[in-house]
Amino acid sequence: MEMLKLGCIGAGFIGNFQAQAMKMVRGVELAGVYALKGADKLAQFARDNGLGDCRVYPNVKELCKNSAVVALFAPNYVRIELTEQIVEAVKAGAELKGIICEKPLGRTVAEAQRLVELVSPIKLPTAYFENQIHIKAIKNARSQLEPVQKTMGPVALARCAEEHAGPHEPWFWDPIRQGGGVLSDMGCHSIAVSWFVLTPVGKPVTFLEPVWVTAETALLKWGRDKYRRELRDRMGVDYGKTPAEDFCTGTIKFRHPDTNQMVIGQFTNSWMYDKQGLRLMMDGLGPGYAFEVNSLSSPLEIFISDAAAAAAADAESALEKATATRGLLTVQPNEVDLYGYVDELADMRDAFLAGRDALLNWQYGLEITKLVQAAYMSAERHKTIYLTDPAIQKELKSYQSLIAQGKGAEVLGLL
Ligand SMILES: NC(=O)c1ccc[n+]([C@@H]2O[C@H](COP(=O)([O-])OP(=O)(O)OC[C@H]3O[C@@H](n4cnc5c(N)ncnc54)[C@H](O)[C@@H]3O)[C@@H](O)[C@H]2O)c1
Repeated sequence: MEMLKLGCIGAGFIGNFQAQAMKMVRGVELAGVYALKGADKLAQFARDNGLGDCRVYPNVKELCKNSAVVALFAPNYVRIELTEQIVEAVKAGAELKGIICEKPLGRTVAEAQRLVELVSPIKLPTAYFENQIHIKAIKNARSQLEPVQKTMGPVALARCAEEHAGPHEPWFWDPIRQGGGVLSDMGCHSIAVSWFVLTPVGKPVTFLEPVWVTAETALLKWGRDKYRRELRDRMGVDYGKTPAEDFCTGTIKFRHPDTNQMVIGQFTNSWMYDKQGLRLMMDGLGPGYAFEVNSLSSPLEIFISDAAAAAAADAESALEKATATRGLLTVQPNEVDLYGYVDELADMRDAFLAGRDALLNWQYGLEITKLVQAAYMSAERHKTIYLTDPAIQKELKSYQSLIAQGKGAEVLGLL
């Protein structure tokens, strides 16, 4: 099997998570890292775990020269400048087989559009990394239910949620650098999964046509004095001045282009979910059948008493964004596989080796950005946003939510 040399830009949370996943993917080598922080540690991890003779490079150009695939695992606010540098490196002779970008593709539709336009002249395959589409439980539910759907009719309602107690780095909390709050950060996951779950098996991922979006954003925990101060001291972000939403929920109506049938996708996301740790919930309901995924259900439970708590290991080794080290704990022994990262990498490997886009390409990432921004627009205006209206499509091209402009107080009821 041909080895695909992957070079990553960024060595933070997702860089390390993806490296864990690579241990379970054949044919992909972590060949290089370029990052402002954490590159040496990640490269050492790669070498210690047989992921390849990983080297640290001083810039994007050198990384590209020594990789077959480059992955953007750096924060949202540096996407454009880093993509420009990748494109320059390719024009200068770097022989890449493809480019990966983590979610979200852009903080605005204009930014996502710019990324698509930047890579278009170099004609390289792209992968938009949305791991939750690749979750084995979701894929399994779809294939198990395929014959049932054919007889009974398609999934008509999908409800998807991702929630935890809040992100790990200050820039995620800063609505200007991140592009908003939890809707921009995690709504993009749940919107993508609900669209996918509703899509008939075998049809393209954008087959169903989004018709309208209605959404709500709110600041339920981190705007209250006690928690606002805690956040300011811990993350250096003041939600008294530039707040972002820590909760969002919404509904998207999709149309089947052949039958005209309307189906509904719902999403709910929060950074104020104070339970064991990260929870993904997805369900799909069709006539006479249903499925449900809950990432907090694990065959493994661990109990740690108060007496033993001092000896407990780091809680995050049990579960992403874990909040407790004692009591009855939920432990997921293989999170990178559970959340879809392993299958996401394998899909990218097969696609790039065959010279084509991954299942999800950057154009798809742009479509998800449009839905996320339409949801902000709906919440801001307290209105349903009709995506079939050409005037709305035009407006979305230059739209930046008030929250992402640092004017969240006007929307989140703090004035
Ligand atoms: N799919 C998922 O579930 C998931 C989970 C977490 C993060 N993400 C996405 O991955 C991206 C990175 O998030 P993270 O949690 O790893 O962030 P992080 O802050 O933990 O790590 C960011 C890394 O990028 C580096 N970096 C920052 N600016 C850089 C620059 N100009 N040049 C080179 N390196 C730079 C930092 O030094 C660090 O190594 C974000 O876009 C985020 O949305 C996706």
